[in-house]
Amino acid sequence: PAPAPAMGRPAVPAAAALLCQLGLSAAIRWLGLTESGGRVAWNETQHCRLLAGTVPEQLPMCRRNLEVMHSIVRAAAATKGACQKAFADMRWNCSSVQRAPAFGPDLLKGTRESAFVHALAAAAVTHSIAQACASGELPLCSCGSVPSEVPGPDFRWGGCGDNLRYGLQLGAAFADSPLKSSKLRTQAVKAMNLHNNAVGRQVLSDSLETKCKCHGVSGSCSVKTCWKGLSNLGEIASDLKSKYLAAIKVTHRLLGPRKQLIPKEMDVRPVKETDLVYLINSPDYCTVNLQLGSLGTQDRQCNKTSVGSDGCNLMCCGRGYNTYTEEVVERCHCKYHWCCYVVCKKCRRMVERYVCK
Ligand SMILES: *[C@@H]1O[C@H](CO)[C@@H](O)[C@H](O)[C@H]1NC(C)=O
Ligand SMILES: *[C@@H]1O[C@H](CO)[C@@H](O)[C@H](O)[C@H]1NC(C)=O
Ligand SMILES: *[C@@H]1O[C@H](CO)[C@@H](O)[C@H](O)[C@H]1NC(C)=O
Repeated sequence: PAPAPAMGRPAVPAAAALLCQLGLSAAIRWLGLTESGGRVAWNETQHCRLLAGTVPEQLPMCRRNLEVMHSIVRAAAATKGACQKAFADMRWNCSSVQRAPAFGPDLLKGTRESAFVHALAAAAVTHSIAQACASGELPLCSCGSVPSEVPGPDFRWGGCGDNLRYGLQLGAAFADSPLKSSKLRTQAVKAMNLHNNAVGRQVLSDSLETKCKCHGVSGSCSVKTCWKGLSNLGEIASDLKSKYLAAIKVTHRLLGPRKQLIPKEMDVRPVKETDLVYLINSPDYCTVNLQLGSLGTQDRQCNKTSVGSDGCNLMCCGRGYNTYTEEVVERCHCKYHWCCYVVCKKCRRMVERYVCK
């Protein structure tokens, strides 16, 4: 008889599947630069080797534009922070981005969560470069061009606007290059994330708005200068979260001469340029299932009175919760002493906390 397969060791197909997944995820592996990328000065092309192990397609761009790499490292940190903040009240809370560049299945496959993170990361790179231009940090760009619209009667264009154009140019080249490479990867996942990257940049571009500063005698605002500035990444993340909740499940099909992303359900409207799209359903993230990239919600804090996703009912998936009390120490009974200091007492207060079973 054939020898029994070795026990307790992953079978070969699992390894092959893993390699395949690594290929799929390459587009956001640069998020891992928050660790390694902060340790080098990015003033020598050899520093680009930090990208080599993860995303070779981004190497040429790094070598040609070393000066933007600081912005990209900052964008990686900003993406992680904004993602976790936007999803703090959800079962999937984006904690898995911390594992970059070694992601789990929640971000390796064509899931909704992956759609969100790709869109946010693509927006973040463009955002970071556009603002670095305006802060005078980059040699090849400066403030955004003066808006073509006629200023209102009460202001004039001035100050220094974010350079969205330059940010889009370099940001798109960086974020999309791994998805445009010809290496063996599933066409559907590439198409999905190219689409989602573009959605992220569109949401960012739409956030460009007029910001003003008042001048004049004692803040009378008789003179106002205005420029075009982008929203902060937290607001972009919150817009993208709404799109995540309304994301459309698609398949990649030949439609006419080209492959296109079309809704999986017959009765769904065609995909628009502002919709996030995904290919496979996510687990409910209620229980631990590492094959599916689910960490489960056991021990997550929940809100007993909320009816939203952070409420104990939804967060704990009906398993119930444990209550414990915790002592918090706060400053209180503060008194102002003339002049000029404040003295406070320390008050202790018990608060109830609820944690999923
Ligand atoms: C790069 O920066 C580091 C630290 O600031 C410095 O020691 C090194 O000489 C620089 N290299 C080049 C090629 O300028
Ligand atoms: C996010 O969820 C994981 C898994 O349940 C948990 O370990 C982690 O503490 C959570 N993070 C936050 C900030 O709540
Ligand atoms: C819990 O949810 C309620 C209702 O949404 C909200 O008013 C309250 O501030 C939340 N409590 C905490 C601790 O987040």
